[in-house]
Amino acid sequence: MSIANVINDYNKRLEQALYSNDNERIQKQHSKGKLTARERINLLLDEGSFVEIDRFVVHRCHNFGMEKKKIYGDAVVVGKGKINGRTVFVFSQDFTVFGGSVSKAAAEKICKVIDLAYKTGAPVVGINDSGGARIQEGVDSLAGYGEIFLRNVRYSGTIPQISIIAGPCAGGAVYSPALTDFVVMVKDIANMFVTGPDVVKAVMGVETTKDELGGAEIHTTKTQVATYAAVTEEDAYAWVRELLNFIPSNNAEGPRIIESRDDPNREVSHVYNLVPSDPLKAYDVKKVIEAMVDDAYFFELQENFAPNIVIGFASIGGIVVGIVANQPLHFAGAIDCKAAVKAARFVRFCNAFQIPILTLVDVPGFMPGIEQEHSGIIAHGAKLLFAYSEATVPKITVILRKAYGGAYIVMGSKHLATDINLAWPTAEIAVMGPEGAVNILYKRKFANLKKEEVALARKAAVEEYRQNFANPYVAAQTGYIDDVIDPKDTRKFIYKHLEYLLTKRDSLPPKKNGNIPL
Ligand code: HXC
Repeated sequence: MSIANVINDYNKRLEQALYSNDNERIQKQHSKGKLTARERINLLLDEGSFVEIDRFVVHRCHNFGMEKKKIYGDAVVVGKGKINGRTVFVFSQDFTVFGGSVSKAAAEKICKVIDLAYKTGAPVVGINDSGGARIQEGVDSLAGYGEIFLRNVRYSGTIPQISIIAGPCAGGAVYSPALTDFVVMVKDIANMFVTGPDVVKAVMGVETTKDELGGAEIHTTKTQVATYAAVTEEDAYAWVRELLNFIPSNNAEGPRIIESRDDPNREVSHVYNLVPSDPLKAYDVKKVIEAMVDDAYFFELQENFAPNIVIGFASIGGIVVGIVANQPLHFAGAIDCKAAVKAARFVRFCNAFQIPILTLVDVPGFMPGIEQEHSGIIAHGAKLLFAYSEATVPKITVILRKAYGGAYIVMGSKHLATDINLAWPTAEIAVMGPEGAVNILYKRKFANLKKEEVALARKAAVEEYRQNFANPYVAAQTGYIDDVIDPKDTRKFIYKHLEYLLTKRDSLPPKKNGNIPL
């Protein structure tokens, strides 16, 4: 064959590989409000940066007449590209080919880019839109899934893994995204569930819908499976691009530095008006965060799950930090099961990727009650303790107001190897709040007083307790608090400590792994 013919043949094959999915299926995909696999990649990546691999891969199935239905690329598009100039690897399931179902060959393509991402220290983004395991392939398809799961786990903590759900994701297939660091679901078109409505009806006799079982709303408010519910596909890709600005490409790179003209020594006097000195009054801690960080820009994560604790990224003096803050607007900022798990996973992500952790404390304690005890507040609270204790990244904690009991310890206290602990003069550090403490300490005394004397005695006892314990100075005298600072200088102090802590060295005892509570 002449070279002209060879190239002609190549071009024909390439055409098939790039445009194999017929127009009817593409139209069907669009009519469901979904983009095609390649349209998605183009929206995610910097323009013109995508380099595809495995374009000529086909499945190897010979059952159910599949040998006659081979399509170049099979049901997933894979390769590498750039996001804001940084390399990322990407796979995008192609629903127009066998419903995006995962054949052994498709799984191998996905594994190949995850391996390349790991070897080169770059994030991997998976766009999921699939009917799950390729039914015609049986155990081969299951094997493929197993190999994807293995990589999700083995590379966890070495490269950021991000999943975008832009269609169905059902059965065991949900476990790959669930193993990744961040999951974005697109409202109205994304679903995640282990068993769909038909099975639920057959087995349980209960009528339900895909959205009720596992839509974006459910997974961002109830289950914590998804980090963000995107309004549209475009929103999902833009969110991932923004997220990547805050996180390093791998666990060896060190925290991101984002250029900012915001003076790190800027005073933040307006926090005086944001935080009421009365410890019982609520306020929005997000406003305090915005006051302290560069350009008032806080990239919050899991906004609609456990709002009593706030997590997210921001930079101070350009240095990206992961922020954990109690939110007095919800449940007075008490830590319940959901808040503990939400914060614990975030602390572990930051630690894995060398992102310094800034903790802002205003917490009355762990949430009391039968419901919380039975939901496992012991185990879930222990997860947060575990996460903070094992974290060896730079850790800075600022106590704004209340820090009571076990919640004081767990929220990045000095006792969990936090590097710098600061407190505002309004901080109250004690075993419990004054009212509760006085009721226990003087129970017998109050019982012996006349009714009209009790109120006065209680008031005096509360005042005495507050003066003796509920202030930052007792802790500062012992060095549990490194400094008491004027609130207006908080940004400046955080930056000054952050700057030198970037070269911190610390490590855990050698071991196979710790045993995080369930
Ligand atoms: C092979 C599949 C497929 C699959 C869909 N298709 N899922 N082919 N294996 N798993 C094919 C369909 O036959 C159809 O082909 C095309 O994809 C489009 O599917 P439709 O049903 O027409 O699309 P839609 O109406 O949008 O419904 C999408 C769907 C539905 C909800 C995903 O297809 C569905 O319920 N599929 C099966 C889901 C499932 O039970 N998968 C196994 C889950 S268990 P034609 O040629 O007719 O257009 C699992 C185990 C993983 O995944 C284990 C890991 C440990």
